[in-house]
Amino acid sequence: MCGIVGYTGYRRAQPILLDSLKKLEYRGYDSAGIAVCGEGLELHKTKGEIAELEKTLPEIEGVVGIAHTRWATHGKPSQKNAHPFLDCKKSIALIHNGIIENYLEIKEKLIEEGHEFTSDTDTEVVVHLLEKYSEDGLEKAMLKALHDIEGSYGFVAINSKEKGTIVVARKESPLILGKGNDENFVASDIPALLKETNKIMQLHDGEVATLTPKSIKVVDLDGNEVKREWKTITWNVEDAEKGGFEHFMLKEIYETPETIHNTLLGRVSELQFAPTLHNDFSSVKMVACGTSYHAALTGKYIFEEIANISTTAELASEYRYSSRARERPLTILISQSGETADTLGASREAKLRGCPVWAITNYMGSSLAREVGERNVLYTRAGIEIGVAATKTFTAQLIALYLAALQLASQRHAKTSDQIRRMAEELRTLPRVAWGVLGKASEIRSLAKKYHKVEDAYFIGRGRNYPVSLEGALKLKEISYIHGEGYAAGELKHGPLALLSEETLVVAIAVQDHTYPKMLGNIREVNARSSPILGIGYEDDEELHRYVDDVLYVPRVSNILSPVPISIALQLFAYYVAKERGCEIDKPRHLAKTVTVE
Ligand code: F6R
Repeated sequence: MCGIVGYTGYRRAQPILLDSLKKLEYRGYDSAGIAVCGEGLELHKTKGEIAELEKTLPEIEGVVGIAHTRWATHGKPSQKNAHPFLDCKKSIALIHNGIIENYLEIKEKLIEEGHEFTSDTDTEVVVHLLEKYSEDGLEKAMLKALHDIEGSYGFVAINSKEKGTIVVARKESPLILGKGNDENFVASDIPALLKETNKIMQLHDGEVATLTPKSIKVVDLDGNEVKREWKTITWNVEDAEKGGFEHFMLKEIYETPETIHNTLLGRVSELQFAPTLHNDFSSVKMVACGTSYHAALTGKYIFEEIANISTTAELASEYRYSSRARERPLTILISQSGETADTLGASREAKLRGCPVWAITNYMGSSLAREVGERNVLYTRAGIEIGVAATKTFTAQLIALYLAALQLASQRHAKTSDQIRRMAEELRTLPRVAWGVLGKASEIRSLAKKYHKVEDAYFIGRGRNYPVSLEGALKLKEISYIHGEGYAAGELKHGPLALLSEETLVVAIAVQDHTYPKMLGNIREVNARSSPILGIGYEDDEELHRYVDDVLYVPRVSNILSPVPISIALQLFAYYVAKERGCEIDKPRHLAKTVTVE
């Protein structure tokens, strides 16, 4: 998410830091900042681009420094919320990637102890903790601070009283150390280091490293030294941006477990799943476009089952021009970018209709977040998505919808607190489930090899997996240019059966929920037309294989959560089919990542 760089050596730090930071621009950001140890500590930061920062930067002397690009999660994009942050004495500077879950508690305590805060961020508490524990030096201060913190982090800190030293710490947020000659580097991602060095070491979770120009020491959380190996990498910058994956889409699908974790972070442990709702409403309407609309439609099933509230989903482009009903449903706008013109138009329309509004988006400070008010937004925290086809952000939207449904269930007493707690706990298992699906990549690739030549594909599902079939078809068509259609399986006999032949692939989602017997019936209907069938079912399903040509098994979860593993499997299937067909995967023809026209 955020971009992090640090340098200690014998050359002027400023140009090296800015140059390295620019290599991380592709990840997206909303503000940038730099701190360099010269005579004292010099800090400069701005909202907006690195180029903006450069316009106002003087030439700073100093051979150690840190720099950061921020992707907002706590506190709006603004200069005051940009990193680095300084302690009260202005000698320690800190940058951070991640989320501190218990920052409010820590902040209250630090304020009581006399610390003064300048931002709305979670990060700032940590620089004040470093100040509080600074007596024995920065490394010890970091180790002590880490014991107070819950959450995820990649921290990089400097202290003007310990010139030449950088201390870094990692938990669930990448940090890479780079070794030079009489100079050392740290960054959140490899592209930032490549111009300077190809000797790198990935810091592991629970490790703290201290860098000086001539040394790098790694210790565990108890301060015991850890011996680690250096690797020489041969990637070019483009390979490095893709993290070694051939396409951003594949990289982003592989980021799904981490994304799920980030979307859940802090929300499950505090049983505060989403913003509190104060309005009165008796139904919910979800409004969105494209893939986000498929999340919305899945949301209908999730809300009705978990929160026991009547829910509809509507396309934003239709909702805007529909006649105004008398009802005032809670209207939830869903948009990855927060900039889709039709979804923004729909949010204005919902407000005109007097509906309470909520938004689910990935971008803090986006037009949608501003439109509905930051307090009414549930952020998906998926990080930047570069591939045009939405993948990890779709999964993050599903997770946000489960959280929102739990919030509603709790406020409306639709479930007992025990039931809510149990469901919330199961959400925490989803990163592992996602890894389970990713573990099937080579199997999925073989299936893609077998079926990549079809020109027509129908995806069928029932209930909560009907929208997943729509999304499976959309993924396939947009990146492989195969004609794909999603259908509610029960609708096959009302028209589409006429199109089925030996040349038509049917992907049938058949999880063992209450729709399973009917789904098997629909599969038999397809069988009778001789179309090849790829079934998608639970790992321990011993029946499905009898009715279909191939089965792609996904880990079993509670049925309500089944859209998560299945949609990840379908994303991989679409990816490998498109790859077999030699398509331009990350930038499909005629499509844009953000659609700001109606
Ligand atoms: C498809 C895809 C699009 C978007 C749609 C809405 O893979 O990404 O269908 O879902 O353009 O975009 P957002 O979610 O930004 O409103």
